[in-house]
Amino acid sequence: MPQSVPPPNFEKVVAALFEQEGWQIIAAPSDSKEYDIELKRNDECIAVQLKNHRAKVHAGQLERFIDFLEQPDAARFTKGFLISASGFTPSAFTYMRTEEVVDVALGSFRHDRLVWEEGDSPPPPPRPDVTYIGVFTCKGGVGKTTISAHLAGAFALNGYDVMLIDLDRQSNLRKLLGDGVYIPSPRGKLGATITVLNYDEWQEEEYPDTRIVICDCSPEYDANPEEFIKKFKYCLIPTTLNPLGINKNADVIQRTFKAIRRTNTDAELFVLINNYHSEENRRNEVLNDILKTEFKAMMADDPRCHYIDPEAVAVRFSKQLLYWGYHIVENGKPQLAFREVGGRSLPRQDFLKLLDYLEHHTQLETVKSVKAK
Ligand SMILES: Nc1ncnc2c1ncn2[C@@H]1O[C@H](COP(=O)(O)OP(=O)(O)OP(=O)(O)O)[C@@H](O)[C@H]1O
Ligand SMILES: [Mg+2]
Repeated sequence: MPQSVPPPNFEKVVAALFEQEGWQIIAAPSDSKEYDIELKRNDECIAVQLKNHRAKVHAGQLERFIDFLEQPDAARFTKGFLISASGFTPSAFTYMRTEEVVDVALGSFRHDRLVWEEGDSPPPPPRPDVTYIGVFTCKGGVGKTTISAHLAGAFALNGYDVMLIDLDRQSNLRKLLGDGVYIPSPRGKLGATITVLNYDEWQEEEYPDTRIVICDCSPEYDANPEEFIKKFKYCLIPTTLNPLGINKNADVIQRTFKAIRRTNTDAELFVLINNYHSEENRRNEVLNDILKTEFKAMMADDPRCHYIDPEAVAVRFSKQLLYWGYHIVENGKPQLAFREVGGRSLPRQDFLKLLDYLEHHTQLETVKSVKAK
């Protein structure tokens, strides 16, 4: 959402502010994409990246800046400042807290002043609509249940209560999460709940505070109650990026589009790559191009069908997601696969980025739930 018109001479204005505070200003080389200004004072050397956009800076842009600071080329920097002319998304703040980022500070440029962000995002204005998000592919085992639950987890991390509805007769969500889970806030604030219900238990009027309903669908289209499919405003369609599956998957996606359109002509449909191996750069590029071309033709007829480019957002393959549900074997407490390995959680990063993507490409932000109570 635009906040204000960014100043045209942003870099100069910001540099002048730092200069007043006694920093030595060194302009970045003209071919540098990753930072704009270098600041020096005593032993400190700081890379400043400026985002002079009308859109808020999202978690993916923050992650990229952190990645840059971890490169050998950036070893001389003691810290990074990411400065935005339009603020940051809720997921960007959550990313800072959950990944415990300490070597990057976020600054917002407001009313000619630089304000250091404390990590709190202002709550969006409450709106009365309930937004239904379906997760559906006409194929078993592509990650529908995993994605439904962890997308709900990303909403909860950002402080929003979510309803997760199990439309699948296998009742996997119920097995994995029981009646629901509480997701504590990463920094001692009040957390949020994910409530799991079977479709016949859900009555909108009984949950007046719920604004987000995520539905985990059965791969068998006709097994999903029609009244739910009709309500989907957005639908995520998980698929994979592997050569043998590509033609087959393009066909599966086409069938999925057609199936949904039989009942719902308005929903925005998003194809999302799951089980993504991000380290396979070259192969991903080739396969992604093939898949994109296949989808382009399909989407030409239906402007509400979208392909989420996995280079922007995908759900990466991870052991945490592969073994999600191990708690059932151990009779443990229901939980999501957001547990950290070496201080990081790939699933948590990916789902925060996915939520950011959806908020950016849909009306989601303005209809998001009232804050968890
Ligand atoms: N990104 C990932 N990385 C690793 N494993 C994954 C990932 N996504 C899903 N899995 C694993 O793949 C398997 C199938 O996932 P899931 O049950 O979510 O698929 P589904 O589409 O809901 O299946 P069904 O059609 O049976 O309902 C599970 O064992 C899950 O742990
Ligand atoms: Mg499932």
